[in-house]
Amino acid sequence: MTKIAMTSHRLSPLSGAPGSLERAGPPAGDTSAEEVVVAYHERTKHHFHRYAAALGYLDWATQPDPFRRYAGADLVRLPLPKAGRPLPYWQLYANASVPPMPLSLASVSLFFRYALSLTAWKQAGDTRWPLRANPSSGNLHPTEGYALLPAVDQIGATAAVYHYAPREHALERRAVLNATRWTGLTESLPEGSFLVGLSSVQWREAWKYGERAFRYCQHDVGHALASLSIAAAALGWRLVLQDSVSDGTLSSLLGLDRDEDFAAAEREEAELLALISPNLPAPLPTGSKPLTAHGGGVLWQGRANTLSPKHSVEWPVIDAVAQATRRCESSPIKEDFSGFPSADALFGTPIRQGLLTAETAILDRRSAVAMDGATAISRATFLRMLARLIPTQERRAMPWDAIPWRPRIHIGLFVHRVDGLAPGIYALARDPDKVDILKRVMHSEFCWQRVPDCPPGLPLYLLREGDCRALAITVSCGQDIAGDGAFSLAMIADYRDSLATYGSGFYRNLFWEAGMVGQLLYLEAEEAGIRATGIGCYFDDPVHAAFGIVSREWQSFYHFTVGGPVEDSRLTTLPAYDFKEEP
Ligand SMILES: Cc1cc2nc3c(=O)[nH]c(=O)nc-3n(C[C@H](O)[C@H](O)[C@H](O)COP(=O)(O)O)c2cc1C
Repeated sequence: MTKIAMTSHRLSPLSGAPGSLERAGPPAGDTSAEEVVVAYHERTKHHFHRYAAALGYLDWATQPDPFRRYAGADLVRLPLPKAGRPLPYWQLYANASVPPMPLSLASVSLFFRYALSLTAWKQAGDTRWPLRANPSSGNLHPTEGYALLPAVDQIGATAAVYHYAPREHALERRAVLNATRWTGLTESLPEGSFLVGLSSVQWREAWKYGERAFRYCQHDVGHALASLSIAAAALGWRLVLQDSVSDGTLSSLLGLDRDEDFAAAEREEAELLALISPNLPAPLPTGSKPLTAHGGGVLWQGRANTLSPKHSVEWPVIDAVAQATRRCESSPIKEDFSGFPSADALFGTPIRQGLLTAETAILDRRSAVAMDGATAISRATFLRMLARLIPTQERRAMPWDAIPWRPRIHIGLFVHRVDGLAPGIYALARDPDKVDILKRVMHSEFCWQRVPDCPPGLPLYLLREGDCRALAITVSCGQDIAGDGAFSLAMIADYRDSLATYGSGFYRNLFWEAGMVGQLLYLEAEEAGIRATGIGCYFDDPVHAAFGIVSREWQSFYHFTVGGPVEDSRLTTLPAYDFKEEP
């Protein structure tokens, strides 16, 4: 078999020593927001000869607390849902078929359990660490979850803003809203709906990863967004991103702009707001009247905890890129999906059976720490996984029904072990209209052969046959998981055009979309009896070189690997919570 290799680069040792850091502050003067973003993206690339700037060692004395708490806020404990809900995994994607649960203590608890809760503790020797339903780069969990709920029996007698506390599986009541404020906020929203918000504590990620941390925070938001959407689907609800809300309004709605409640505590960056509703026809409406910041009628409580005793290092470029990507109020994005495949054209035969329940796939999801270098998957499994990653013209494919833009993330695949498919480099154009431009931006000698007997709606192409295991490992920072799985992939973003179309704030959306792709791959891998792992550490420009991408318009935004895992037998797994399930 031909070996596809990387010839023009050599791996050099990591250059993360503090002395080697460039500490230039944010670009000054009249630099445009888009220029700030592009400069950030360039300077946070990992190169063979130089990793993006980071401390280079772990400063354990300042390790951030992974759990935010608001001292003084009422804590509403959520009952631990009884395990064993029988909903099959495949039904998450057949959303009209799940009867919507009424909004109640039990359903809110189940929603957060599936979306953001702890799912296990791991122990090695004397050290214990928790894992969650949503994954996180370095398990640092910068993402915080919030909900704006109406009065719900046994949660609160009035509408309120809550912060989700995953360690306790509880809601912290941050603010009580009077009836006028709640009605004002929700009058244009569908009956029975509520709002969820996400924010990032950038320091948690920057503590370890330095300047590249902003990217990882955004990936994690994307994973969490998909996780929320999947949780909603399991309850017969649907989620839609409120993409027109400004970051200022969002900060106000979630209470993140309250200096008096943070004092010296690490601030949170507002990320997104989503509407959750019982089943509605697709596409879901966005609120017809813009959501407004809180004015009167809101009573706040609680003070944020400090997460690290001190910060021994600051990363000004993270503040600069955060600032440059904050969104103003805008009109909702509306794009045309009529040229997208139907579900039938994507899947061939509709999927109406499977291995797991939705609950098992969600709560047992784990990253593989190593792949076995042996497990192959069937062609049908591979094609089904890829079909899940594409929105349909009916706009019902969860979680793609949650976001209004056409895919800007396309996939370059390193196929190693898929039965009936030649190993090699492949491409999946997640927007069928982008095949031609991808052909133009990638290597001219790629063959772009349609994969035989592939469902007609799946834009999957063989680019070059050959053994690409070493190449996949090399470009993924030398991580063996990229070559030892069944396949791994690079998520190639239609980057500059997206920023030109929707502004610098859309830089975040590109990472969110990549994270959403990743979250689906995690669950699909569980369903297939194997595992996946997100790969945030990859050498950016060498990835581009592997696909022949010279233009800076297209950039790799995330990597992923899927395959047969090797379990680490030194670790013990303990239950997520030590309190009893509800009877
Ligand atoms: C954005 C992102 C980037 C990641 N990058 C890597 C990586 O480069 N290498 C790796 O082995 N794991 C990587 N992971 C996996 C995390 O280490 C893993 O999610 C975390 O330890 C929590 O474990 P869990 O996924 O089993 O809950 C990444 C995960 C995410 C979400």
